Amino acid sequence: MLAELSNPSVCMRDPQRVQDILQSMVKAGSNTVQVISDFDMTLTRFAHNGKRCPTCHNILDDSKLISSDCRQKLKELLNKYYPIEIDSSRSVEEKLPLMVEWWTKAHEILVEQKIRKDLLASVVQESDAMLREGYQLLFDHLHEHSIPLLIFSAGIGDILEEVIRQAGVFHPNVKVFSNYMDFDESGVLKAFKGELIHIYNKREGALLNTGHFQELRTRPNVLLLGDSLGDLTMADGVQDMENILKIGFLNDKVEERKQSYLDSYDIVLVKDETLEVPNAILLYLT
Ligand code: C5P
Ligand code: MG
Repeated sequence: MLAELSNPSVCMRDPQRVQDILQSMVKAGSNTVQVISDFDMTLTRFAHNGKRCPTCHNILDDSKLISSDCRQKLKELLNKYYPIEIDSSRSVEEKLPLMVEWWTKAHEILVEQKIRKDLLASVVQESDAMLREGYQLLFDHLHEHSIPLLIFSAGIGDILEEVIRQAGVFHPNVKVFSNYMDFDESGVLKAFKGELIHIYNKREGALLNTGHFQELRTRPNVLLLGDSLGDLTMADGVQDMENILKIGFLNDKVEERKQSYLDSYDIVLVKDETLEVPNAILLYLT
């Protein structure tokens, strides 16, 4: 067993199963592996020095591009809907329409703000966005070994790309599925492109992108990283899947949610702000 799997943050329902999956993947070789990861609160930190770190949306909410009136409205939406997102007493069926409502209302407010594309880089620069400790190793190692990394996010693609670009890790093996902004000819936000991706429709998002998974059909071994139960469906488009190892970050409402995370993720990382465990697994696989 990998030493890092004994870290105090690691919880597993069935350590033997994890061991077996890892063994099969090592045997198949790293050229059969692909990584699918969520972005907000999975590749980025949940908190730093006791303070919450921003999601892609929060980076905009907190920025100079938003009027104080709209910032207030966006904060109210966050205060209303985030507790619903992490409420373990409600079912996905109950939460789904409310999540659609959150994303839709927030995007409408953002569009009203006439956000300029040329200011996004400075807004990300000035934000408190932070990738998890060990991100450099994760991105560089995957690149070095030509392992594809799909970042599948219900956040905002333009913002998340800027975060990883500024961190110097937007390598050519990285592909992003997310909500992208649509700008008019003068570079002002006019809408969001395509089908909305929210926290509970990643399966539908995956199935819309069959071309990507077709290209990766020689890689039936998947490492999935997420922080929400909605992230578990990110790999639903993978063709002829052989093995999947699901690693879930449990950042908030730990006691209430631990059992459901243990039931659905193979490895649960409790209040772990680092990528130490995923990195140890990748080093083991390559
Ligand atoms: O990248 P990921 O799929 O994790 O992005 C979704 C996250 O963005 C959600 O966990 C949600 O809390 C957050 N969000 C937000 N503001 C919104 C909508 C979603 O912070 N308006
Ligand atoms: Mg997330």
